[in-house]
Amino acid sequence: LSYSKQIIDIMRYSIFTGGKRLRPVLLISAHHMVGGDIDESLPLACAIEMIHTYSLVHDDLPAMDDDDYRRGKPTTHIKFGEDMAILAGDALLNMAYEIMIENACEHSSNIHNHMRAINIIAKSSGVKGMISGQVADVAHQDESIQAEAVEFIHNYKTGALINASVLSGILLEDVDDSLIEAIDIYGKNIGLAFQITDDILDITGSFEDLGKRIG
Ligand code: IPE
Ligand code: IPE
Ligand code: MG
Repeated sequence: LSYSKQIIDIMRYSIFTGGKRLRPVLLISAHHMVGGDIDESLPLACAIEMIHTYSLVHDDLPAMDDDDYRRGKPTTHIKFGEDMAILAGDALLNMAYEIMIENACEHSSNIHNHMRAINIIAKSSGVKGMISGQVADVAHQDESIQAEAVEFIHNYKTGALINASVLSGILLEDVDDSLIEAIDIYGKNIGLAFQITDDILDITGSFEDLGKRIG
């Protein structure tokens, strides 16, 4: 037996169906802003899109939001079954770390900065970030909710990974703490604004424009 081509095809379906690529663009732009070369940040940009895509594949599962369309196409579990959607999500998450670590080894003279960048991505997508936001989102699904809890959900489930995109981009270079602090404020604010907009579009938008069901 060799590794499964079947799952690679499902990963490709999930990631290449479309999407705005906001997080990778932010990561590369932030890196460029501090004088970085795209060759060094592109693998991290791809990795953050893989993490984002895995989170969408799992978010759409029947046990979570139970959605049948994403990026204008049937969701991964509708097309390939729940079992394969879970595995493709797991595989995308793991491949993200594989390519970030390989890239860090290829830039061994800058390995400390690569570790800082990978660390912020790991932290922001895990229990200290996106996962806790998703947990809170699920917990509050069928009840009225305080503004404070909404803001927590927005900041964690969406803001954390968006903030990690810009932070990891600048952390690849030797930058001052004052810049890190400024970018952190910027990243948190656009992350929050992004999720507020996404929720408003869930009421006012259209299936044709968004590629996912509204309401
Ligand atoms: C959708 O994210 C889920 C949220 C975190 C709001 P995006 O709106 O970035 O989704 P794609 O990548 O463009 O499909
Ligand atoms: C998805 O949030 C956020 C994550 C996958 C972390 P939503 O459930 O609000 O986004 P859509 O509407 O499915 O894109
Ligand atoms: Mg959802």
